[in-house]
Amino acid sequence: MSSEFDVIVIGAGPGGYIAAIRAAQLGLRVACVDSWANARGGAAPGGTCTNVGCIPSKALLQSSEHYEEAGHAFAAHGITVSGLQVDVATMQQRRAKIVQQNNEGILYLFKKNKVTFFHGLGRLAGGNGDAGWQVAVQPREGEAQTLTARQVIVATGSVPRSLPGLDFDEKRVLSNTGALEIDGVPRTLGVIGAGVIGLELGSVWRRLGAQVTLLEAMPDFLAAADAQVAKEALKQFTRQGLAIHLGAKITATAVTKKGVRVEWTDAKGAAQVLEVERLIVSVGRKPNTDGLGAEAVGLAVDQRGFIEVDADCRTNLPGIWAVGDVVRGPMLAHKAEEEGVAVAERIAGQKPHVDFNTVPWVIYTAPEIAWVGQTEQQLAASGRAFKTGSFPFAANGRARAIGDTTGFVKMLADAQTDEILGVHVIGPMASELVAEAAVAMEFRASSEDIARICHAHPTLSEAMKEAALGVAGRTLNI
Ligand code: FAD
Ligand code: NAI
Repeated sequence: MSSEFDVIVIGAGPGGYIAAIRAAQLGLRVACVDSWANARGGAAPGGTCTNVGCIPSKALLQSSEHYEEAGHAFAAHGITVSGLQVDVATMQQRRAKIVQQNNEGILYLFKKNKVTFFHGLGRLAGGNGDAGWQVAVQPREGEAQTLTARQVIVATGSVPRSLPGLDFDEKRVLSNTGALEIDGVPRTLGVIGAGVIGLELGSVWRRLGAQVTLLEAMPDFLAAADAQVAKEALKQFTRQGLAIHLGAKITATAVTKKGVRVEWTDAKGAAQVLEVERLIVSVGRKPNTDGLGAEAVGLAVDQRGFIEVDADCRTNLPGIWAVGDVVRGPMLAHKAEEEGVAVAERIAGQKPHVDFNTVPWVIYTAPEIAWVGQTEQQLAASGRAFKTGSFPFAANGRARAIGDTTGFVKMLADAQTDEILGVHVIGPMASELVAEAAVAMEFRASSEDIARICHAHPTLSEAMKEAALGVAGRTLNI
């Protein structure tokens, strides 16, 4: 097997594997090195996203939503369910199978695109921009092998952040990895951090029957979301039974025989104790450069551990690029992918552009939350004059037919030019609806553009059109 390539990609998460495929499509000789191993020690490309992130979490969200609907929503349709039970083992087997299918799919794509895959830890072992870079690949067993290339793309991703003094054991103290693999419904589940992982995985286990308590340090709920959306979300999640405490300060933690004990003070400063069978710690993730050899070759890493890059993902070393969670910006799979594609195209001499303002955000709870562009509070802080239009799903025929009328679509547009500046959705299929808004914003559309486009009836997407009509104060169905 050749050890000389045009491009070596380190990491086969969404940033790395997509970069490798795109570079190969452009005629470059590409190697991709990834260390992730499945339970049998085999290659499991796809990174955090495929193995312990986006894909398995959505599998469990779907299963648990079916269970909740069968228990609570079917009756309204005249469907009676008796003896409803959940078999967590089957649910988990389904999750594992979906992950495996995705791992195999990526290996197939590598073959199809003639990307040479190496299963092992990749380390920057020397070289320079003129002669090329060496990457040592250490497989789980056996001898290391050295690859060379003029261009290296680092896509080594991120790992969960733990709380000081409380290491993950993945039995009682769970990162996202353990939280996705719980083998039976815990009676009580604590979650530190009511961010994206806390809300998604907290929802999974609540639907299945756990009593879930979330402790969030910030005084505001979902501070990154539009405040009106966050308010509605807090109302809905609380109504569903998630106990969410904002402004919580963790003062002590201990693993006990029965589970985990968390001492904390609430927003009023009163001391509280939470005793739970299992505890998910989801307080953010940190960039991963373990074993990469960054220091040895002089690759610049900032104080927080992110590889330093410019707007085009160039590092301080010629020919070395970095993309995805290991660099600045949102830790999202699709952001990593866009950067991976753009870097592969830059290496091939093209001039692509990634617009971070149109990267959509989605939280896959029920109701789903999705947005693109700026929030009302960001626009207000920037002093930009804007108009608002919104439309509730309660007035949308399809939402009524589906039986899910929670939430609304909210559109923000420039007061003078009418350019769409942000779109915020909370409600059914928000994750899919937001795509229309992202397309519109990429084309710098006005709210009137959306308002004048024919949307099929009856669809949830009509709520988007109505929100756009609302910007001009002329909704038709409310
Ligand atoms: P990663 O996916 O972390 O991949 C990095 C890969 O590099 C890994 O396979 C790692 O083993 C490998 N690696 C690291 N160092 C080396 C080395 N030295 N040599 C060889 N290989 C190495 N994002 C979304 O957009 N949508 C979601 O729904 C979503 N859900 C999520 C749910 C959870 C529970 C979590 C934890 C994350 C979720 N994310 C989601 C975030 C998403 O998973 C990340 O943003 C994405 O995986 C980042 O991709 P990446 O390629 O940068 O890194
Ligand atoms: P997060 O940043 O979304 O949420 C972490 C939360 O923990 C924040 O609200 C923060 O204020 C809180 N926190 C921090 N320290 C705390 C402490 N000591 N005590 C109490 N609360 C504390 O991070 P999370 O949920 O860990 O997810 C990591 C990243 O993974 C996300 O930022 C996101 O980029 C990605 N992700 C994306 C998903 C999606 O796109 N649907 C799903 C899951 C994860």
